[in-house]
Amino acid sequence: MPNVTEYLSARSTDPELTDLISAICTCCTGIAGQLQLGALTGILGALEDTNIQGETQKQLDVIANDNLKEALLKLPIVAGIASEEEDLPVAGNPEGRFLILFDPLDGSSNIDVNVSVGTIFSVLEVPAGMNGGEERAYLQAGRKQLAAGYVLYGPATTLVLTTGSGVQQYCLDNNGEFIQTASAMTIPTDTKEFAINMANQRFWQPEMQSYVAGLLAGSDGERGKNFNMRWIAAMVTDVHRILTRGGIFSYPWDNRDPAKPGKLRLMYEGNPMSYLVEQAGGLATTCYGNILDMQPTKIHQRVAVALGSKNEIEVLLDAHKGAL
Ligand code: AHG
Ligand code: MN
Ligand code: MN
Ligand code: MN
Repeated sequence: MPNVTEYLSARSTDPELTDLISAICTCCTGIAGQLQLGALTGILGALEDTNIQGETQKQLDVIANDNLKEALLKLPIVAGIASEEEDLPVAGNPEGRFLILFDPLDGSSNIDVNVSVGTIFSVLEVPAGMNGGEERAYLQAGRKQLAAGYVLYGPATTLVLTTGSGVQQYCLDNNGEFIQTASAMTIPTDTKEFAINMANQRFWQPEMQSYVAGLLAGSDGERGKNFNMRWIAAMVTDVHRILTRGGIFSYPWDNRDPAKPGKLRLMYEGNPMSYLVEQAGGLATTCYGNILDMQPTKIHQRVAVALGSKNEIEVLLDAHKGAL
């Protein structure tokens, strides 16, 4: 099977975009190597610092961020980067074409307990007349993404990628190459599996509460079938399961902090994952509209997310009809 560069080149993908994706892969291979050594590296655990979202940073959040930032900003094709771990966007080459937005380490609370984490990325083109140091250059709807993907650091290191024509999966081999293992990932339309953090139930809107109550009622309720629940606390891993065998994932709106319409971040979590899910035949919504159609207003803005198997997301949307 082809490696990622061979596959993209054979599909006449923009050669500069192919180079960019290869560079992201090389960098993530390095991150995988550090993660594999666990406590031997002495870089597990938290820092004193918090990021702009008020989260305590893990040492590996910062190391993964610095690795990606350094590798990408030295490419002449890169106009700038924005990251969960950077307060502001960072300008690259003023002549560069691409803006890369990333979550360097997703699910970082999993690191210290040796559970899967990932890197999420989204690629946009810099608009004419703007540069990669300006926030407004990045504030483009998710539909404008040129590519989106993630690398999952699990028992295997897996790349899942879309450049707008389906979703491909690759697995990192012993030679440091991502070899294709699936050329068209497709999310089954129906499911009996859901992923949501039930501990937040009391903070949800009534529509979400009653939808989930229906799942929990199982065959005793109106749904007439039993559901199973999974929650890995790393969006990458939960979404990977859904891309592999179906299901739905939600981090919905909740009323813990009225200033935040959800926990996840639109630009480097919601948008790239929604693009992958739509390209694999699923749906991605805030419960009131498609995530990919949202006009962003801030790089670190939060968004309510529900995504996955098409028919099940439609049931969820029905439960929200007429509400806002
Ligand atoms: P990050 O580690 O990049 O800050 O993201 C963590 C996110 C997401 O990956 C996951 O689905 C969610 O936080 C888990 O949140 P809870 O701990 O509230 O369940
Ligand atoms: Mn974080
Ligand atoms: Mn994340
Ligand atoms: Mn993160």
